[in-house]
Amino acid sequence: MASMTICARFRPLSSKERRDHGDAVCIQHVDSETFSFKDEKDEEFTFSFDKVFYEKSEQAEVYEFLASPIVRDAVDAINGTIVTYGQTGAGKTYSMEGPSILVCDEQKRGLLPRVVEGLFDCIKSSGRTMKHSIKLSMVEIYMERVRDLFDLAKDNIQIKESKSQGILLNGVTEISVSSPAEALQSLSNGIANRAVGETQMNVSSSRSHCIYIFTVQQEVKKDERSKAGKLILVDLAGSEKVEKTGAEGKVLEEAKTINKSLSALGNVINALTCGSSGKANHIPFRDSKLTRILQDSLGGNSRTALLCCCSPSPSNALESLSTLRFGMRAKHIKMSPRLKGNEDKSAKKNGPPSPTKDESCERILGMLRERFDAEDVKLLEELFTLSGILFDPSSPEEVDSALADVTSQTITLLQQAVEDLASIVEELKRENKALKNELAAAKRLDAQSEAAGDTSIVLHKPSGIISSVVSRVRSLSSIK
Ligand SMILES: Nc1ncnc2c1ncn2[C@@H]1O[C@H](COP(=O)(O)OP(=O)(O)OP(=O)(O)O)[C@@H](O)[C@H]1O
Ligand SMILES: [Mg+2]
Repeated sequence: MASMTICARFRPLSSKERRDHGDAVCIQHVDSETFSFKDEKDEEFTFSFDKVFYEKSEQAEVYEFLASPIVRDAVDAINGTIVTYGQTGAGKTYSMEGPSILVCDEQKRGLLPRVVEGLFDCIKSSGRTMKHSIKLSMVEIYMERVRDLFDLAKDNIQIKESKSQGILLNGVTEISVSSPAEALQSLSNGIANRAVGETQMNVSSSRSHCIYIFTVQQEVKKDERSKAGKLILVDLAGSEKVEKTGAEGKVLEEAKTINKSLSALGNVINALTCGSSGKANHIPFRDSKLTRILQDSLGGNSRTALLCCCSPSPSNALESLSTLRFGMRAKHIKMSPRLKGNEDKSAKKNGPPSPTKDESCERILGMLRERFDAEDVKLLEELFTLSGILFDPSSPEEVDSALADVTSQTITLLQQAVEDLASIVEELKRENKALKNELAAAKRLDAQSEAAGDTSIVLHKPSGIISSVVSRVRSLSSIK
């Protein structure tokens, strides 16, 4: 099994860092993979990564080493993820976007525009036997809500899991793009919608985690089979010490949420690397939106690369040390990316059961269909979908925890549904009895009036019965 590609990148000293500490740096270059690091107490550590990008490194080098193999794989339907991680102001957004994704020096262009170009180049060179198409989505996780950056009205997107496609964002906007220029224009529009604020550490600080999703669909013309590779780029918001960033009010609330989700990410990495061999331990993917969305990327089913961005200044040594340790830990996660989204179009035409439905949910729904009204079962099905009870039991190490989650959610949902249905049935029985009594009374009255030859009672009675029935039906429909 392969491991994640982990790289460290040190940005040049900022003008503030130069003012405070002159040219002093806390790292010493050993070679392109190793450096020594001095912390605040002058204690020395040696770190080795797959590659170290020092202050003078070029954006193109980062792309070539970290992203280009993942881009090629995505075109071959192997999922990939690239994450920039690190303290606020450490260069995550700079590495991802560059100064601007639309207009900037070729040399300074970040990973994102290079990935776009790389995808279209790979498609062009893949030959005529295959047809490719690219779809693009863009969301941010702001204050623990997933917002669609292509459609701000969708500000609380739900995360679902399907057996065949893994983690999905329910109803997220997907834009088909047919050229790099079109893709970059869409990305630029999305970036303009992202939450950014000013702090004492970064005048343009990302206040959300930004997630770019490229879905590359591949169709082999000859046999009509199609596969899809998903490439996810994640520009995380940076961890921050509130006393350094001077955060207060809204910015403070944002900082707390950012730090909380980053510690959830740390916990997931720890759980993934601490498990005793051979025994599946619980991985808390569901503890934050970030970890849930990254579940496939961290859980093994993706080729994943992590860029640990750091300041080289001694004034940020503590934060840089923590970023580097995070990277070292992540290196121990074992990955086994596999082809995803295989779909046989001809089979689909013959109408087999949808492969995205989890079998156990289908079984339960089938049983309910036999006993309950179709409308109620449909409602339950929607509840299952909304609650993300569709899970992928194919990765053995997650089966226990996923099963525990699904079992408790299913039980709660079913109990709730059974209680609701039982109370509706009770209400219907009561109404039915009342209506029967009224009908019997009406018949008696009818018989009496006929016997007495009183036509006025006969004429008024039916309208009274009808209005009584209508009002009961109304009250019943409000219960439902
Ligand atoms: N490699 C680099 N070369 C030149 N300038 C850089 C580099 N990396 C970062 N910078 C500059 O440092 C500043 C902070 O960078 P950036 O906004 O990318 O930080 P960040 O890690 O995204 O922070 P936050 O978590 O607050 O969003 C920016 O002005 C950026 O231009
Ligand atoms: Mg940023």
